[in-house]
Amino acid sequence: MKFARFLLKNAALANAPKQIERFSRFSPSPLSMKQFIDFGSANGCEKTSFAFLRQELPVRLANIMREIYILPDPLLHTPSVQLVQSWYIQSLMELIEFVEKNPEDQRVLSDFTEALVTIRNRHNNVVPTMAQGVIEYKEAFGVDPVTNQNVQYFLDRFYMSRISIRMLINQHTLLFDGGTNPAHPKHIGSIDPNCEVVDVVQDAYENSKMLCDQYYLASPELEIKQANAKTPGQPIHMVYVPSHLYHMLFELFKNAMRATVEFHEDSPSLPPVKVKVVLGKEDLTIKISDNGGGVPLRKIERLFSYMYSTAPRPMMDNSRNAPLAGFGYGLPISRLYAKYFQGDLVLHSMEGYGTDAVIYLKALSSESIERLPVFNKSAWKHYKLCTEADDWCIPSSEPKNLARNIP
Ligand SMILES: Nc1ncnc2c1ncn2[C@@H]1O[C@H](COP(=O)(O)OP(=O)(O)OP(=O)(O)O)[C@@H](O)[C@H]1O
Ligand SMILES: [Mg+2]
Repeated sequence: MKFARFLLKNAALANAPKQIERFSRFSPSPLSMKQFIDFGSANGCEKTSFAFLRQELPVRLANIMREIYILPDPLLHTPSVQLVQSWYIQSLMELIEFVEKNPEDQRVLSDFTEALVTIRNRHNNVVPTMAQGVIEYKEAFGVDPVTNQNVQYFLDRFYMSRISIRMLINQHTLLFDGGTNPAHPKHIGSIDPNCEVVDVVQDAYENSKMLCDQYYLASPELEIKQANAKTPGQPIHMVYVPSHLYHMLFELFKNAMRATVEFHEDSPSLPPVKVKVVLGKEDLTIKISDNGGGVPLRKIERLFSYMYSTAPRPMMDNSRNAPLAGFGYGLPISRLYAKYFQGDLVLHSMEGYGTDAVIYLKALSSESIERLPVFNKSAWKHYKLCTEADDWCIPSSEPKNLARNIP
């Protein structure tokens, strides 16, 4: 096996392939927002959380590690992907040490929390390091549609898995390492049971405006409207992770502002960015509309592509793995945050005019359930079979000689 060869370099980790095999046989267990809340608000029991996480975290890690191993060899063997892989192996092995330990021992519980913090820090730079791996691969081999499709499939699942693992780690450390968060005493870990959506919109707008002003010396105004179809006239609240919502909104505002300023370079004034927040029975929808000139339909899918990212090659700092500039991952990662709790993020653009970016979230906490990748036969097939020929005709620029096509 490919990964066995890699691991034999380090005798202490030689046991890893067996453990990956063992834990990847389990499917991850998705939690609902309601479960996160119920658990946290009933003065959640640290022992129960420990017992759940020492199994669930290795399961989530092992499932996604199986997919890393079946990446195309030239990508798997880039130094960056090898580095990421070594972090995953190390974290998996550190977690497995707790499987046999006694939850009644307070020392075990505090060691576990400490281990989670170490693991979270170790994985801080996973996104830029993985992105660097994709750049290294692209420079050596270029981009072809099949690889793009495989890498897109993998990275969406890989980053989603990472979001979920960090969510679990954050909940445990916030709830049990030092008690309540003094800045947000009503939050349950990273969840705000009463998240006021318009406040997060304002916050994301202000911070994006600051960047925009710094860079362009101008920025569009904000217009917000909200419609609460459930309880008319009331502000819109939801159970959500404010940092996730902020992440999506901040990325969308940065894009909308940049497009607006650049499209209206020669105009005396800038059209505002308009936001509409609507709460229905099932969906909570946030639409961010700009008059930034839009994007042609043909290019929309590419805006979400990790391989076709338009960002320039990021500069790396001395620590070898932390780039100083963005990778053009604003949209794809934001869409993952939306999808993580069963929502979505879509762009509707009118080239020559502007773009509507729409975030869909579940209005009910009982329906906000983690969306998690699982490594199974279907996933495996996806990597192995997508090299087959496309089942739609590729338009040819030259008219074909029809006579030749008739059998
Ligand atoms: N509202 C918009 N109007 C016009 N073009 C847009 C809009 N939003 C996104 N785009 C286009 O999509 C590209 C990809 O956006 P994305 O946010 O993923 O990356 P980025 O903005 O280039 O870099 P990053 O967000 O990582 O700093 C942008 O570079 C821009 O060309
Ligand atoms: Mg962006």
